[in-house]
Amino acid sequence: MKKQLLNGAIAAILGTTAALPAMAYQAGDMVLRAGLAGVLPTGDGSLAPALPTGGVEADDGYSLGITFTYMATDNIGVGILGAWPFSHDVEGTGAIAGAKVAEVEHLPPTVTLQYHFDTASKLHPYVGAGINYTNFIEVDENPAVLLGDSLDLDDSWGFALEAGVDYELQNDWSVGAAVWWIDIDTDATITGAATGLAGTYDVEIDPWVFMLSVGKKF
Ligand code: NI
Repeated sequence: MKKQLLNGAIAAILGTTAALPAMAYQAGDMVLRAGLAGVLPTGDGSLAPALPTGGVEADDGYSLGITFTYMATDNIGVGILGAWPFSHDVEGTGAIAGAKVAEVEHLPPTVTLQYHFDTASKLHPYVGAGINYTNFIEVDENPAVLLGDSLDLDDSWGFALEAGVDYELQNDWSVGAAVWWIDIDTDATITGAATGLAGTYDVEIDPWVFMLSVGKKF
């Protein structure tokens, strides 16, 4: 820590860190990153048996992503993925292709255990695995399709995998890219008699999540 402070002081005086050796993250380091995050669903849901050839899928959503890493050791970190809510259109497939069924907003906080590789360079790659909790905070049904029936989406707990890299710039700033695969499965319940679709359906969202960020190490 003293060495880091000294390096920081020298860098501040010289206005550059070019002459300093690149260092891996160290125990106690904290990295906060913010940037553009995209949630790209890969799964879908069938409405069978109520609508044998119809289903639903969610389109892509983008938002402000925030991630945080706390280095418990020089190589092991705890990561948190947070974000502003993501908004997705839920669209029909098969017999109801093209129909916008609803617009949903969700928050997908994810906690991972990360392994950070020591590359002895300005690149800090890492991989992680952990748990996601997805909370659908808002569901706006399209009355033109659901005819007044209501749609509810259960919260989801699932497994998450992650890989990312930070590239160290000057004065503890960095730029980063990360990707997650998250198992998000929800029960969608349609209530009401208008559509004839009343029932509970399994919906797989299972998104890839991408983020491009700017980070700062503390
Ligand atoms: Ni799944």
